[in-house]
Amino acid sequence: MSASQPGGVLPSQPNRVQRGTTPADGDLPTLEVNGTVVEVTDSTDTPLLWVLRQSLGMPGTRFGCGMALCGACTVHVNGEPVRSCVTPLSAVMGKSVTTIEGINGAVVDALRGAWTSVDVPQCGYCQSGQLMSAAALLASNTSPTDDEVATAMDGNICRCGTYPRIKAAIRAAAAQLNAARAAGAN
Ligand code: FES
Ligand code: FES
Repeated sequence: MSASQPGGVLPSQPNRVQRGTTPADGDLPTLEVNGTVVEVTDSTDTPLLWVLRQSLGMPGTRFGCGMALCGACTVHVNGEPVRSCVTPLSAVMGKSVTTIEGINGAVVDALRGAWTSVDVPQCGYCQSGQLMSAAALLASNTSPTDDEVATAMDGNICRCGTYPRIKAAIRAAAAQLNAARAAGAN
């Protein structure tokens, strides 16, 4: 299997620090991941995806294209969806990174429930990135139109073609969130 294909391994890491040039303790890059501040030994131009998967052992964020084309590597930085394969560590230092392992709250609970009830995944490879993009959408817009859903999810590719079920699940999650809010307002 090619290293550039979903399910393959990450390519070698030319951006990582070389042996003998690792930053000294106290100079290590720090970032906040899922609410915890961590130090890493990666050079600051290492893509965030490599930091998450290889340095921090968090494989839920997927490597697909490595070129910001497929959305498999989507995480949130300060609540906004970003492609971690093209985001250098330097860009997220001092910011809050949320991955599929750590995202929580009513929006993602509704999405996970809808994903299950609609039975969205096929192979599943793209789905963590799909959920992260959907969660960012519903966090800012609880009643997206079909066009708004299409625009928000446009950059997330699914080789299995689960797009109709993804859109149905987003609509179901939005309806549940709005019903819960309406009930809470009564
Ligand atoms: S791995 Fe495809 S957009 Fe990042
Ligand atoms: S790539 Fe298989 S479920 Fe999306």
